Amino acid sequence: MESYERAALEAVTTHPVHDYRTLSVERLTPVLGAEVSGVDLSREIPDAQLDEIRTAFRAHHVLVFRDQALTVEDHKRFASAFGELRAVSPPPPEGDPYVLEIRTASAAANVAGNGWHADGTADVEPSLGSMLYITEIPEPGSGGDTMFANMHLAYEMLSPAMRSLLDPLTAVHDGAQALAGYTPPADYVIPKSEHPLVARHPETDRRLLYVNKAYTSRIPQLSEQESRALLDLLFDTIAGRPILHLRVRWTPGTLVFWDNRCVQHHAVYDYYPHTRCGRRVAINGGPVKG
Ligand code: SIN
Repeated sequence: MESYERAALEAVTTHPVHDYRTLSVERLTPVLGAEVSGVDLSREIPDAQLDEIRTAFRAHHVLVFRDQALTVEDHKRFASAFGELRAVSPPPPEGDPYVLEIRTASAAANVAGNGWHADGTADVEPSLGSMLYITEIPEPGSGGDTMFANMHLAYEMLSPAMRSLLDPLTAVHDGAQALAGYTPPADYVIPKSEHPLVARHPETDRRLLYVNKAYTSRIPQLSEQESRALLDLLFDTIAGRPILHLRVRWTPGTLVFWDNRCVQHHAVYDYYPHTRCGRRVAINGGPVKG
């Protein structure tokens, strides 16, 4: 391991441990994710508990809540404690415009989200976070996990020379690239935006790598060939470094809340021909901070 990689890991793994008073928070890996217990998301959550959930979210970026029995209204109420609800885009043909139904039919050819991405990065103001509640899993042992990757650490483990090259750059995020193979409604305006390639988390100011394979199409300051090579290198770094990753195994009634500003996720489609169902509610974010 290079000295700068060791330094990045030491900084992440020696964070002070917060003393939670209203709930329990167990780390899932040294670098990403925690399981939160002692909270019932179907009820109005007291402010003290919400504050501790916010603290845990800032520290771990992915929070896993098990054994929750939630109506759509409970799910939306919990999400709206963290910001304005985000309309599903492209809008669903029917049903609640804030609820994305996740439904893998038996023997589906592919599933949405089966590749590394963060939600909505082609928008001028991408999503703050998403909450996915899974109600039906493939048969036990048949897969359907979701993987997550820490983009702070992805940036911090790069060499100083690579970080200096990336710091001043921007990247184009193109909704058309992510929609490939899917025809949106005729009146849908496909989003496309340019964001800092190295962003800062709006709450902690910590830097992070802000490119993802589903949406990011081009680094405009570079030639076409240089842009392709550098993006492919960064995508390979995100996918190919298990140390950045967390893998969540679902059980029915699990809700996972992740931070789209500093985490990417990948819905692993390894459960053909089984089914999997749930629903996702997302929260609006702001402009990407450079
Ligand atoms: C997604 O938000 O990309 C879906 C994640 C999943 O189904 O696990």
